[in-house]
Amino acid sequence: MRKPLKIGPFELALPAIQAGLAGYSDMAMRVTARRRGCPYAVTEALLDRVMLAGGKAREKGLILHDEDHPVAGQLLGSEADEMAAAARLLVEYGFDTVDLNFACPVKKVMGRCRGGYLLSDPAQAKAIMQAVRDAVSVPITMKLRRGLDGSALAAERFEQIFSHATELNFAAVAVHGRTVEQKYTGRADWDFLAGLKQHHPAMTILGSGDVFCAGDAMGMLGKTNLDGVWIARGAIGNPWIFSEFAALLDGKPLPPAPTIFEQRAALLEHFMLAVEIYGEALASRQMRKIGIKYSRLHPEGARVWQDFIAVKNQREWDRVLDVYYSADGPGRPQISVADAADLYNGCQMDAARVPAEV
Ligand SMILES: Cc1cc2nc3c(=O)[nH]c(=O)nc-3n(C[C@H](O)[C@H](O)[C@H](O)COP(=O)(O)O)c2cc1C
Repeated sequence: MRKPLKIGPFELALPAIQAGLAGYSDMAMRVTARRRGCPYAVTEALLDRVMLAGGKAREKGLILHDEDHPVAGQLLGSEADEMAAAARLLVEYGFDTVDLNFACPVKKVMGRCRGGYLLSDPAQAKAIMQAVRDAVSVPITMKLRRGLDGSALAAERFEQIFSHATELNFAAVAVHGRTVEQKYTGRADWDFLAGLKQHHPAMTILGSGDVFCAGDAMGMLGKTNLDGVWIARGAIGNPWIFSEFAALLDGKPLPPAPTIFEQRAALLEHFMLAVEIYGEALASRQMRKIGIKYSRLHPEGARVWQDFIAVKNQREWDRVLDVYYSADGPGRPQISVADAADLYNGCQMDAARVPAEV
């Protein structure tokens, strides 16, 4: 039986949301996924100071679409008053919820006392949580890693911050089952996530880490008893992961992989939505890294990958679609987690994807 996922007033038919993914989870990726069953999505981490400074970087991050609701705006910052002001701005722009990022492991973010750093400073984390709670009336959520590192002190600080979310009536907390120190190495600790839910049964908890296909999402829910799954790398280039997960939850077999024409339609939609955000020239370059992720569902994946990676403009993008996507046929079934490590090499949150400081 499928249990709906509740985030504040939002009752989602599927217990899965699309993750915050710097450099990926823009309006284009969110809407492409929503049209294929994703019920809720999160922006990439938006630096509070960029939001408050105005300008082009801010406007692109804030672009929403009519179909893009409910949507969480995710904030990254170190100062309570700035985070509160940025939260107010997100609400003015139409975001339905505000998500606080206390998870990002990138060195330059940590060095500025933001993201995952805050797991080492519960007093400051709590000050930010309180200030944002007081600033807006929309639901607040939070993204954590399971600690700064594997020490007992880190576990204690995690617990303090997590419990404060309960005290402030946050609508949900997403937890990545790796420590900040681990970055993307090793496996996410799903046992930790299971224990967390046992300890905090009343809080809506989303699990993150190593969900590369619908089967992994099933595995995580089954093993942890969490309320929902935060789908991250597994959604990049695979917006069908949501409907596949829905089918498995309903006790149906895994649907066949999207056909070549279904893939073509998604690629075209994703591209056109990216043009709305970035304009044609930039969208073509941006879509390279998206195209290569879609290529894994194509039977000639390796060749499609090579050609997408070389795209410099829309003409070349159209050519790749003409060569590989103009005859219909079955797609390549989704990969298992065992193959994922290889595929996702190089797909990690790195400094280049974090918004520039102002
Ligand atoms: C390229 C990339 C960008 C990311 N950007 C964000 C982000 O902006 N906000 C966030 O909360 N998490 C971010 N993450 C972390 C993911 O949301 C997720 O927690 C992590 O990848 C673990 O899940 P997975 O192993 O299923 O991918 C990012 C991860 C990657 C790979």
